[in-house]
Amino acid sequence: MLVLLLSSCKNDEKPEDKPIKKVEYTMYQPSEMANFMNAMYAYNLQIKNQIIAGETPISMPLDLMQLHSAEMTKGKDRTHVWNSFVNVFIKSQQTIADTLSNVELKARYNNAINNCLACHKTECVGPIPKIKKLLIQ
Ligand code: HEC
Repeated sequence: MLVLLLSSCKNDEKPEDKPIKKVEYTMYQPSEMANFMNAMYAYNLQIKNQIIAGETPISMPLDLMQLHSAEMTKGKDRTHVWNSFVNVFIKSQQTIADTLSNVELKARYNNAINNCLACHKTECVGPIPKIKKLLIQ
């Protein structure tokens, strides 16, 4: 159950309402894109903790160009909505480690996370509650 909740775009608010097909569950293989998304999640969680601790992230180790190349889960596509959000997101994610920026670090960070959410609102609603927890209050 846990794997399914963390690794599906389906809305997981009330999973008990939906019968889960055992076959689908055991055959689940995360796509390249799903793996990359999870790496972005882990990176941003680390950045969040750094910012809260008063530290300044100075590098962005992820290859964000993978958003343009990674294979997606069968049935998922780079839609018009995806295309309209992806470059805005990439720019905002890179800006977090831009030590020359005049914008406050926390604002830059939250802006990137809000761009995750903007795309997820239509392209992959399942992880939204999890992504919201990345925001710094
Ligand atoms: C341009 C659109 C877009 C942006 C920006 C985006 N995502 Fe995603 N995300 C998706 C799509 C589409 C999927 C489903 C990918 C697949 O299944 O192949 C996904 C999947 C995920 C998943 C589930 C992975 C899994 O195991 O199935 C997580 C978690 C996630 N994204 C977190 C994030 C975080 C955190 C950010 C920002 C740092 C982010 N996403 C930015 C569209 C986006």
